[in-house]
Amino acid sequence: MVPKRVLLLLLVTTLGLRCARNTERVALDEPITPPGTVEREPYLVTISDTSAVLRWSTYTPEQPGIRFWAEEAEGDTTELVLEEMGRDHTFQMLSLLPATEYTYQIQINDTLWSDAAGFRTFPKPGSKEPFAFLAFGDSGLRSAGQLAAADQLNQEEAALIIHMGDVAYVDGTVQEFTDNHFGVYAPLLKRVPFFPAPGDHDLRTAGGAPYIDAFTPPGGRPSSDSPLYYSFTYGSVRFISLDSKSSEEHAVEHGYLGDPSSEQYQWLLRQLSAARADPNIDWTMVYFHHPPYSASTGFGGHGSDLAIRRTISPLMDGYRVLLVFNGHDHDYQRSRPIRGNALAEDGEGTVYFVSGGGGGRTTFRGTGSDWFTAFSEQLYHYLRVQVDHYTVRIEAVNVDGNVFDEYEVTIPEDQRKTWTREAEPLALPGVGADEAAGTGGEAAAGSTDTGSPPQSPPPGTPPDTL
Ligand SMILES: [Fe+2]
Repeated sequence: MVPKRVLLLLLVTTLGLRCARNTERVALDEPITPPGTVEREPYLVTISDTSAVLRWSTYTPEQPGIRFWAEEAEGDTTELVLEEMGRDHTFQMLSLLPATEYTYQIQINDTLWSDAAGFRTFPKPGSKEPFAFLAFGDSGLRSAGQLAAADQLNQEEAALIIHMGDVAYVDGTVQEFTDNHFGVYAPLLKRVPFFPAPGDHDLRTAGGAPYIDAFTPPGGRPSSDSPLYYSFTYGSVRFISLDSKSSEEHAVEHGYLGDPSSEQYQWLLRQLSAARADPNIDWTMVYFHHPPYSASTGFGGHGSDLAIRRTISPLMDGYRVLLVFNGHDHDYQRSRPIRGNALAEDGEGTVYFVSGGGGGRTTFRGTGSDWFTAFSEQLYHYLRVQVDHYTVRIEAVNVDGNVFDEYEVTIPEDQRKTWTREAEPLALPGVGADEAAGTGGEAAAGSTDTGSPPQSPPPGTPPDTL
């Protein structure tokens, strides 16, 4: 007999609530919410292997509720209705089963339930089950190009979405996020979690408050103290999302990626070290807005961010990060494998993708090519990335749903998991080669199968807190 699963659901804005367990199966064709009630359709702020956070907003204060169930939980439905009125509604579902399909409906004003929607919890960390994720950037303009790409995206089946910044043009206001993001991708966002990295436009209003409010789960991300950079795990992939915005000002500040003493840089070092030491992790994928390798120098093109290249690319080399995803330039670019700022063999270097064709430009005037360029084209598009254990396949998809570029990389056999024990020395900016070699070598020798970090961060780095 299957033990009764207790599905715990917490309300974030909890004050006076009533909770009921309903064992009756909910009909999927019950009435939908009245038109004009919901300002932001329900969207998944985050999902893990045991939890999910759902959020939506209404134009006027309403009384929200939610009910959800898993098919395999023997028909049990958890239902919760908040007695407090409000406009922004956040429900955190905890103690969920991993790799399980859930169905939910939201309620407005204690009467009508929405259409049913579904999501799938992540598998347990270390799972090797194949999965797909979507990646794009520079999208939120509500242009014809964005809407055309969204028509394709909204039909995709994927485990998660990463976004490389500039979610909402022009200034990242509350209204722009509502209209240019949530209003465009609602069919996708209600069933697939969205993990953004901030772009320059996203942080223009009130220090990025609308962006932070929209995408930060209650209590923040468990991997980071900052709402602007964080990591998460799906199966055997560790995703690391960074805030590269401050590189634009070339200022040494809290999160400046180009400054090795900054909090974000030090956090990144600990993340990379922990991911490499974690026996559950096969891949580390890093994404942020400003591209260290970009050949876009024509009209509206930004080109390579050399500060980021100098500071971040050595880390990608040192920790064997094979895939990096960027935006900012409004085109599609795939680099050749790069290691040590030179070309490398497949599987031996990092391939940098620029995927900034989400819709943030209404006209195109061509892209460029440089020594590192493998493929470059200026068009609306997004990336579909399929992970199958040691092999990852990236497909670039146009607004017609056709794949116009594809790239596949497999972790070389002699590098699988040996990364955790025999990684090459990390060349830190400002550190001599001998010194860097000593740091990496000593740490590598000291690593074990227990998952302890194999490489000591630079002096002054706090202990790993993961
Ligand atoms: Fe940008």
